[in-house]
Amino acid sequence: MLIQEGQDPLLLLGFRNGPDYPNALSKRITGIRHRIATEDGSVGTQGLVTGLLPEEAGSDDAFIYACGPRPMLKVVEAIAEKRGLQGEVSLEERMACGIGVCKGCVTAIRNNEGRLYRRICTDGPTFPFGEVIYGD
Ligand code: FES
Repeated sequence: MLIQEGQDPLLLLGFRNGPDYPNALSKRITGIRHRIATEDGSVGTQGLVTGLLPEEAGSDDAFIYACGPRPMLKVVEAIAEKRGLQGEVSLEERMACGIGVCKGCVTAIRNNEGRLYRRICTDGPTFPFGEVIYGD
């Protein structure tokens, strides 16, 4: 979608090790600017993918879309806040119903209405940077 709109997105991918990097993915991202980080250094840059973000955050009008484990999302948001960058996180959660009935996917957020609880399945799964409360 971004490419179709004339944007030039940069994809930052992180894995524990090379075998976790699926071959099918490498074929799908051909032609898309990307960098890979693996914790063991077997593919791409050694370290966490969040280590790539400060140098790759781009211009001041860059917009970040992030998905992954919550501790990583918290770090991404902290880096973005330091740089004054906007973005969205996509939350993952086990979903029993997926239609907003069971409330098993509720997460705490804060916005201009205060602290609230939102269902990831129907109110998300994306939330603007600064809204998700990461257990602090
Ligand atoms: S999965 Fe049931 S309310 Fe979200």
